[in-house]
Amino acid sequence: MDSEDPRSNGDGINHVSKKPKLSSFITESEIREEFSHHSPDVARINNGSFGSCPASIIAAQKGWQLRFLRQPDDFFFNNLQSQILHSRTLIKDIINADHVDEVSIVDNATTAAAIVLQHVGWAFAEGRFHKGDAVVMLHCAFQAVKKSIEAYVTRAGGHVITVHLPFPVSSNEEIVAEFRKGLASAKANGKKVRLAIIDHITSMPCVVIPARELVKICREEGVERVFVDAAHAIGSVHVDVKEIGADFYVSNLHKWFFCPPSVAFLYCRKTPISPDLHHPVVSHEYGNGLAIESAWIGTRDYSSQLVIPQVLEFIKRFEGGIEGIRKRNHDAVVEMAQMLAKAWGTNLGSPPEMCPSMAMIGLPSKLGVFCDDDALKLRTHLRDRFGVEVPIHYQVPRDGEIGSTDGVGCVTGYARISYQVYNTLDDYIRLRNAITQLLHDGVTCQMLQRE
Ligand SMILES: Cc1ncc(COP(=O)(O)O)c(C=O)c1O
Repeated sequence: MDSEDPRSNGDGINHVSKKPKLSSFITESEIREEFSHHSPDVARINNGSFGSCPASIIAAQKGWQLRFLRQPDDFFFNNLQSQILHSRTLIKDIINADHVDEVSIVDNATTAAAIVLQHVGWAFAEGRFHKGDAVVMLHCAFQAVKKSIEAYVTRAGGHVITVHLPFPVSSNEEIVAEFRKGLASAKANGKKVRLAIIDHITSMPCVVIPARELVKICREEGVERVFVDAAHAIGSVHVDVKEIGADFYVSNLHKWFFCPPSVAFLYCRKTPISPDLHHPVVSHEYGNGLAIESAWIGTRDYSSQLVIPQVLEFIKRFEGGIEGIRKRNHDAVVEMAQMLAKAWGTNLGSPPEMCPSMAMIGLPSKLGVFCDDDALKLRTHLRDRFGVEVPIHYQVPRDGEIGSTDGVGCVTGYARISYQVYNTLDDYIRLRNAITQLLHDGVTCQMLQRE
């Protein structure tokens, strides 16, 4: 057994580096081949930020690009729309939508948020919403989405209610209780809540949110519409848009679904009075429905939207398809997180069932992560000195808790690790050893330079 393998020192880790031997399914060496374009010098344990795309899909994408370049007019006028419709139909079935009209393909979750929030902005501008009407969001909503809220809601006179996500968190009930409190405060102030924005998986800190339950509470409490920002969802948690029941639901396909950057679906539930949504880039199809508008937003490369059939073929090569991948990634990331927490004498930021294919692990307090800047410096140092790519989160201590470098202070730094099919045990060992080395050398974030 490898001496660097935690199995050799009795950590009880047993199988992560081994993938099941399945002759008819993709082999370990084929997986290596598919991701051989990844830099060999980097332990890439941050699939969550930008996702990953296998070589066979990059080749398929190139095929679509060449088809366009060979005869652009023919491709644009005779092929593109039917191919995008085909992709939308496949997505509709995967997410259990009722109708293909409910599924638009857009560039990314940021674009989808702009579509939904622009719609809210117009409602203020056109007098359907009134100054002081509220939008609810989690305090750790993605920064780009917060900016969209600022641009389209705050600027139009809307009021933003922020629900604090408890972290570290130990149960869904804690989240539900905070969410109810946020809605109650809106009601107490006589606010009409026009939109709730709920993450399905928060980015930083990373936690699976009980989205279905929160949507249900919104319905009970008379929130007008609900947008679920599920940028990380498809491929890392089960997605059934009918079960979740939101009005709008976006997931990137380039994060955990092996698509090239960038592509996302935006599901908009059909209702008797369907909302008047538009793509923020207005083009020829303005007014013909969001899905049609989004399929022609000027001359551009649409190839990432066209490879969905090939991506599904790629996924079929894994036992259990996307559900099998998702489950194995989840189990592996939890196992790796527990190994790291044990080595560092810390804990996970949430119980395993609240981790998707990512997990938060407390960093030893001796590293002194005391602010966002410290977290960024540590992340950069891990990349530059140790070849480890991992996001670091600074967690503001709860009331009464203090962070300190004497080793007994509360944990204020967390590493967010991801596990995707290409990862191996060695990637996490590299992170474990890098942190151990920093501790051994007495390095704290305060000693690191801003790069
Ligand atoms: C919760 C959440 N929302 C939105 C986004 C934005 O995704 P994109 O950059 O692909 O638009 C992210 C990206 O990580 C995210 O984590």
